[in-house]
Amino acid sequence: MLWMFYSNAHTASSTCQVKKRFRAFLVRKLSWSHNMGDCIIVDDEYPGYSKEFFNVPSHYINDVESVLLPRGIILDRTAKLAKDIHEKIDLSKPLVALCVLKGSYIFFNDLLEQLRALSANANKSCRMSIDFIRLKSYTDSTSTGTIKVIGGDDLSGIKGKNVLVVEDIVDSGRTMQKLLKILDENEPNAVRVVSLLVKRTSRSTGYRPDHIGFEVPDKFVVGYGLDYNEYFRDLGHICIMSPDSVKKYSISNS
Ligand code: IMP
Ligand code: MG
Repeated sequence: MLWMFYSNAHTASSTCQVKKRFRAFLVRKLSWSHNMGDCIIVDDEYPGYSKEFFNVPSHYINDVESVLLPRGIILDRTAKLAKDIHEKIDLSKPLVALCVLKGSYIFFNDLLEQLRALSANANKSCRMSIDFIRLKSYTDSTSTGTIKVIGGDDLSGIKGKNVLVVEDIVDSGRTMQKLLKILDENEPNAVRVVSLLVKRTSRSTGYRPDHIGFEVPDKFVVGYGLDYNEYFRDLGHICIMSPDSVKKYSISNS
């Protein structure tokens, strides 16, 4: 954790500022050290990394407040999620990995690459196929309240198989609950859900996926496949949007 303090301390100009930052760093370190639950918890006060330290494309540099989760950390966490999933999954039946489009496409690809490598090197493995489903519930940064299936494969093929649902972010949990109902109608053997992110929010229905990468504060995050009105999918890291960009890319205000 010390490197997080030093990297941010670069920008502090006076001793006083450095002291203040060190105190804040200690507070953050304490909160991060409570990560003993089912995932990495990103504290509400955690400001993220200064965007100057990461490669943010110039077309987004003014639209991003800070880098919440750099791609490298996401990939390291994904490797462990793959290991946990591989250990837990029932290998006696074929597995269908289901990508919830569009937001999960990068996470899905990185996770499956890890699962493929684990499967190739394990004594026991099973056949894995992939399916896609496209759901939509958001306009701007708020849920429209209706979750629509707007595309994807015919799900009748999951009958009797084990399904691994791969989602980018669980916010209220309503999208996932709706999807689980749809899957259930197609009679799979068992379903596990992995979500890269879960938001800590009062809107939560209480739904919690089987595997979670990071629990994040209740802020709208973009990048690594996650969008705001279709912008920011081409941003490598998970970032917090600047308040100006929320207005700039809003559909309802235009
Ligand atoms: P839920 O139904 O409220 O759980 O919303 C889940 C869906 O909303 C996700 O699959 C995303 O598509 C979208 N979503 C929720 N929060 C965010 C966010 O912070 N950034 C990008 N998409 C989000
Ligand atoms: Mg999603």
